[in-house]
Amino acid sequence: MTSIANRPDRSLGVALLGTGFMGKCHALAWHTLSTVFSGAAHPRLEVLFDPDPSCAAACAANFGFARSTDDWAAACSDPTVDVVSITVPNGMHRPMAEVALKAGKHVWLEKPMALTLDDAEAMTALAADYPNQVTILGYNYLRSPAFQEAVRIVKSGEIGPPHAMRGVYDEDYAGDPSKPWSWRDTKEKGGLGALGDLGCHLISHMVALMGDISEITAMTQTSIATRPSPEGPQLVENEDSALALIRFASGAQGSFATSRVALGRNCRLQWEIHGSEGSIWFDQENMNELWVHRRGDAGFTRHLTGPQQPDYAAFCPGPGHNFGFNEQKTIEARDFVRAILDGTPCGPTFAEGLKIERVIHAMARSQGRPIPLGG
Ligand SMILES: NC(=O)c1ccc[n+]([C@@H]2O[C@H](COP(=O)([O-])OP(=O)(O)OC[C@H]3O[C@@H](n4cnc5c(N)ncnc54)[C@H](O)[C@@H]3O)[C@@H](O)[C@H]2O)c1
Repeated sequence: MTSIANRPDRSLGVALLGTGFMGKCHALAWHTLSTVFSGAAHPRLEVLFDPDPSCAAACAANFGFARSTDDWAAACSDPTVDVVSITVPNGMHRPMAEVALKAGKHVWLEKPMALTLDDAEAMTALAADYPNQVTILGYNYLRSPAFQEAVRIVKSGEIGPPHAMRGVYDEDYAGDPSKPWSWRDTKEKGGLGALGDLGCHLISHMVALMGDISEITAMTQTSIATRPSPEGPQLVENEDSALALIRFASGAQGSFATSRVALGRNCRLQWEIHGSEGSIWFDQENMNELWVHRRGDAGFTRHLTGPQQPDYAAFCPGPGHNFGFNEQKTIEARDFVRAILDGTPCGPTFAEGLKIERVIHAMARSQGRPIPLGG
C-alpha cells in the first residue's frame, strides 16, 4: 500500500467509479473538500470511470478529472490513485471494493454494502486483512449538523434514557407504475429493494442514536409487480416497502417503516425518540430543523441549524441560511481523509456497516417471525 499517512502536502489521488446521482455527489464533495475544510486534504482528481466511454470522457471533463476510462479494474489499480469512490449499482460494490482493497487503496463505498449478507461478510473479512486501509460507507444522513446535534442531545442524557424510537424513511421515486424497470428492481444488480435503498439509512440513524438492535420482526411487500421495459413488462424482484418492530439491545422498543412507493413523500427520513426527560424529532425533508421537548415545556421547540451546531460554520457563518444534501457528502469526505491522513476513526466502516446489513437482510426474510440479531 502507498504510505500516505505523513504525506506533507496532504495530497490524495482519487478514482471515482460512476457518474450518476452519487457520482456527481462524490465529485462535488472532492471539489469542495479543501475549500470548506482548509488543510483537510488536497485531492488530485485522477481518473473517472463509466461503462460508457463517451459518458466517462464527457463527465471527466465536466467533473474536472485528469483522465477517463471504461475499465474500472484499471482505475482501481492506477498507481496515481490512493482512494476509490464507488458510486455504481449495488451488484458491482463487492467486486470493485475487493479489487480496490487488494490494490492497496482506501475505499469510500456507497450504501448498501452489497447484494447479499454473504457478500457483505466477505467484504468485511477482506477489509480486516488490510487494517491500514480505511473503509467508509456512504451514510451521508449521519453527517448533517442537525443530526450530529441530535446525537449529542441523546447521548448527553438531555432527554433522559430513551425508551422508544419510531422511524420512517419514505420516498415515491418508484410510485408511478409506468416508470421503467431498472437495476434497482432486480436481485442481480439491486439486491434488496426499499430496505437496501432507503431502510438502511434509517437503520444507520437508529443505531447511531439508540445503539445496537437485538431483535426485529418484519413484513415486506411489493406493490407494483411489473414495470415496463423495451422487452415488455419485467418482474419487480424485490420489496417496495417494509414494516418492522424493533427491540434495541438497551431494552428500548422501536418501530420502522420504509417505502419507495409512498406517493407525495420525497425524502421523509423522519423519526422521533421518547426519553424519560423529553423527546426529540427530525425530518430530513426539513433537515435544518431539530425539534426538542423537555419535560414541562409546552410542545416542542424548534432548533434551527446554525453555526452553533457541528460542522455548519465551515460552510457558512450565517445561522438559518441552510445546509444541504450535497454538503453532507463533503463532511463524509472530510471524515474519510482524516482517517487516512491522521488516523482519526471514522465510520461506518465495513465492519460497522455489516451490522446494518444484518438488520435489513433479517427484515427481508422475517415475514412476521421474530429474528434475534445477537446484540
Ligand atoms: N447515499 C445516498 O444518499 C445515495 C443516494 C442515491 C444512491 N445511492 C447509492 O449510490 C449507488 C449508485 O446509485 P445512483 O443513484 O448514483 O445510480 P445511477 O443510476 O444514477 O448511476 C449509476 C452509475 O453506475 C454506472 N453503471 C451502471 N451499470 C453499471 C455496471 N454494470 N458496471 C459499472 N458501472 C455501471 C452508470 O453508468 C452510472 O455512472 C447505489 O449503490 C445507490 O444505492 C446512495
